Amino acid sequence: MKIFDSLLTTALISLAPASMMAENSPGIEILNLAPNNIMVKIPDVESNFLLIPVEESQPVSHIRVVADNNLEDYINIALAAGKADYYVPLDLRRFKGKDLLLDVRTTNDRYTLRDGDEATWANKLTLADDFDTTNTEYWRPSYHHTPAYGWMNDPNGMFYQDGLWHLYYQYNPYGSKWENMTWGHSTSPDLINWDAQPIAIRPTALGTIFSGSAVVDKDNTAGFGKDAIVAIFTTAGASQTQSMAYSTDGGKTFTQYAANPVIAYERESRDPNFFWDARHNQWVLTLVSALDHEILIYTSPNLKDWTLASKFGHGFGSQAGVWECPDLMEVPVEGSDEKKWVLIININPGGPFGGSAAQYFVGDFDGKTFTCDTPPEVTRWMDYGKDHYATVSFSNAPDDRKTVIAWMSNWQYANEVPTKQYRSANSLPRDLSLFKAPDGQYYLTSAPSPEVDALRGSLKKFGSATISSKGKSFQLPSSETGGYEIQFEATVADNQKLSIVLSNADGEEVVMKLDGADRRFSMDRSKSGEVSFSDNFSGVTFAEVPGNSTSFSFRFFIDRSSIEAFIDGGHLAMTNLLFPRKPYTTLTLRSEGPGVKVQPVSVWTISPKRVPQGVK
Ligand code: FRU
Repeated sequence: MKIFDSLLTTALISLAPASMMAENSPGIEILNLAPNNIMVKIPDVESNFLLIPVEESQPVSHIRVVADNNLEDYINIALAAGKADYYVPLDLRRFKGKDLLLDVRTTNDRYTLRDGDEATWANKLTLADDFDTTNTEYWRPSYHHTPAYGWMNDPNGMFYQDGLWHLYYQYNPYGSKWENMTWGHSTSPDLINWDAQPIAIRPTALGTIFSGSAVVDKDNTAGFGKDAIVAIFTTAGASQTQSMAYSTDGGKTFTQYAANPVIAYERESRDPNFFWDARHNQWVLTLVSALDHEILIYTSPNLKDWTLASKFGHGFGSQAGVWECPDLMEVPVEGSDEKKWVLIININPGGPFGGSAAQYFVGDFDGKTFTCDTPPEVTRWMDYGKDHYATVSFSNAPDDRKTVIAWMSNWQYANEVPTKQYRSANSLPRDLSLFKAPDGQYYLTSAPSPEVDALRGSLKKFGSATISSKGKSFQLPSSETGGYEIQFEATVADNQKLSIVLSNADGEEVVMKLDGADRRFSMDRSKSGEVSFSDNFSGVTFAEVPGNSTSFSFRFFIDRSSIEAFIDGGHLAMTNLLFPRKPYTTLTLRSEGPGVKVQPVSVWTISPKRVPQGVK
């Protein structure tokens, strides 16, 4: 069979006009059919991967992946016309033994083989058995989760089961810009070391797979089996509908529910997030009606049949952008037995410093309706940096913990950040609780999850000091990864200001300041390193630290390309990307006004953790 095929191929090649054929690895045939249409044939697939060259500045072409005449996939991809920025693998293992055809429609005629060398993507297609995911990026974080390659945005479907934390995410396997939404998957035994898993959910005929969530169906309410993992997500086709898939192998592979969609709302709606409401013996699902700036609350006995119970949000909080990625959960109040309901709503644009941000509302939920404690004009943000979005929680976390992870980027520039092999990382995991501030209101605490302590490597401690306007510099211990945790306490009265500066040998610096007069904590990244890729990147983020004590605790996590600041145990959180060309090596403290008393400063190096590697 094989010999016959290759003889036939040779015969076809010798008959074809020269303009139709290109030099490629054996096993690939290029059919140059029309100015905007090329077909690629891979008869009787044997290899594991087809490596496709991508050039990000090129317009997006469309590939229909056809195996034995059946349409299997539809891919949007910036095929290289000149030099490839990188290659992406089309996983052929699903098509072994089949005859594969890629029907490629380009948007103009510049790629045709008739134009000779310009059609480099077709000439460079390569069959391979491996795809090398060794890190090639200087700015890849050393201890934050990133995809091994390709684009990532929102965390999706996070759940915990049998000692493993599952993190799915909005993923483009065919380039490092947003496209082809699919659920990528990583798992972790400890919330800090992540292993890349095979793609979990691919687009269907109903659309690409946008954000959603997943639960462990402990009582088999849906009938897919006890402890089946049930995911509900947006299928983004001509309209956005909500569809379901289930897994009976612990979240590795999913089967689409045959009667999808399970919710079809008549307005643009997405990002379903759901949980078991034990008090009312029902499932509760929140969905955003994105353009109406409100959420829809649905209930269901079985995850398949959903009833719209109420809506919330009209006129509440920030209405400046579309509402996305909701999460409704009951959260403990620190130092009491009380619990309150928190509704997280991510919005874009309209964040406090432009672009994307996560707002939240505190209130009550009676099984049908969410009632907000604060009047409509009150807006609260979970994190006052620019790079904390699409934040949602894990289901089934041990001890009913409310553990969340954010996408550490901002739609204003997420597609432009200076990495190529992959784009975007997640924040560290954070555990949520509420605290009652002196104004009698409840606010959210976002504290690094306890597991994060295990990241600590060697400790260097600097004694307590009174910091004057001349300042005091501390040499950070050498860390090959540029990863540190810094922690200290300081007393900053209302006539004092404390600057906290991280800098490197090139004079790049991130400047933080706590102003005791208005309790304002700020972070300026305008000289932090590479900032030129977007006009929206450079600048200052700031917020008032809630409370009225003059003593503040600071905890900073610095990685290759990010900083997460937690003030007073997470009463204020601020997450920002940074792209220093060399790791920051110096911490400088400086005061304005009378000297500032700073308690001992602890600096831990953070050793490299497992970055997800490999296409398994
Ligand atoms: C938020 C979001 C979601 C959507 C997804 C698409 O960042 O826009 O609303 O489901 O990204 O990737």
